[in-house]
Amino acid sequence: MLTLGIESSCDDTAAAVLQDEDGLLSSVISSQDIIHSRFGGVVPELASRRHLESIHPVVQEALSRAGVAIGDINLIAVTQGPGLIGSLLVGFSYAKAVSYVSSIPFVGVDHMAGHLLSVFLEDEKPHFPFVALIVSGGTTSLFLCASPSDFTLLGRTRDDAAGEAFDKVAKLIGLGYPGGPSVAREAEAGENNAVKFPRAWLEEDSLDFSFSGLKTAVLNHCHGVKEKKGDLRVPDVCASFQEAVVEVLVEKTMLAIKKTGLGTVVMGGGVSSNRRLRDMMQRRCDENGIKLYLPRPSFCTDNGAMIALAGFLQFHKEVPVEYNQDVYSRSQLG
Ligand code: KG4
Repeated sequence: MLTLGIESSCDDTAAAVLQDEDGLLSSVISSQDIIHSRFGGVVPELASRRHLESIHPVVQEALSRAGVAIGDINLIAVTQGPGLIGSLLVGFSYAKAVSYVSSIPFVGVDHMAGHLLSVFLEDEKPHFPFVALIVSGGTTSLFLCASPSDFTLLGRTRDDAAGEAFDKVAKLIGLGYPGGPSVAREAEAGENNAVKFPRAWLEEDSLDFSFSGLKTAVLNHCHGVKEKKGDLRVPDVCASFQEAVVEVLVEKTMLAIKKTGLGTVVMGGGVSSNRRLRDMMQRRCDENGIKLYLPRPSFCTDNGAMIALAGFLQFHKEVPVEYNQDVYSRSQLG
């Protein structure tokens, strides 16, 4: 069975062709970083306009690299939400049109489910149930995953997502967009404990997150240094900020493991490509005898392959295709 996956929830136009469960035949991503970098963040109107230009060539490229034609495709899986409405509408309308014209069934996929299941694109696959930390530009959530379509929300951010905090901190200290990779690069030359930034643990036992106070602490630190006409040590600020984010993400995941009694952790989402987070999570999992499964970095950030896979795993032939479905901006997974 061949699944065409289409993703356009934010600023990447992506498509992939997947054979059955794990035969990835192609994965094409057209990044819009160059358009949004001068604004320090995604401009929704520009994003949807670029999706309109890119969607057809990206899908054609994915089909061509896979060596198949649209008539060979058995299922179209497309991101239905959450994300920017204008961006989502481009991919979703395109998928519905191709589905209708070519008589290929389509299935709407929750972007978060794509991130939760992206690890199954790897050769080494986890067994259900497991705890999943999904950490991206729009989400920071912990889930208990019991099957490819049974996810229970354990905790979520109450304000900024971790990736959003990386992007905002990068902007305020004048680093490029997307902020995560630039902050991580600077952090390599910095001291993790040079600046004492706060960790928001929230109530004892809470699996929720909060990153807006940390972002304000970085802002206050930068203003303080400027007022004293001191030297802002950017690598130290980046390393200390990154450490504060990573420590909370890792320890809350360990708390989720303790509360659920499970023995497996899975990560997904753009921030899970962060080297320090991957290393620290691995160390704490090893210390506690927990198995950790990580997608490779290119499967952590937005891609069409994870949408194809989630669609393939969640598709039920017997459910009729509904063309009056719409996109949504907030995740249906909690
Ligand atoms: O999953 P993703 O591509 O898009 C969303 O679904 O949001 O994640 C993008 C986010 C951005 O906020 C970006 O700054 C962050 O992931 N990110 C990173 C790294 N690479 C991407 N954050 C920290 N370290 C990284 N290496």
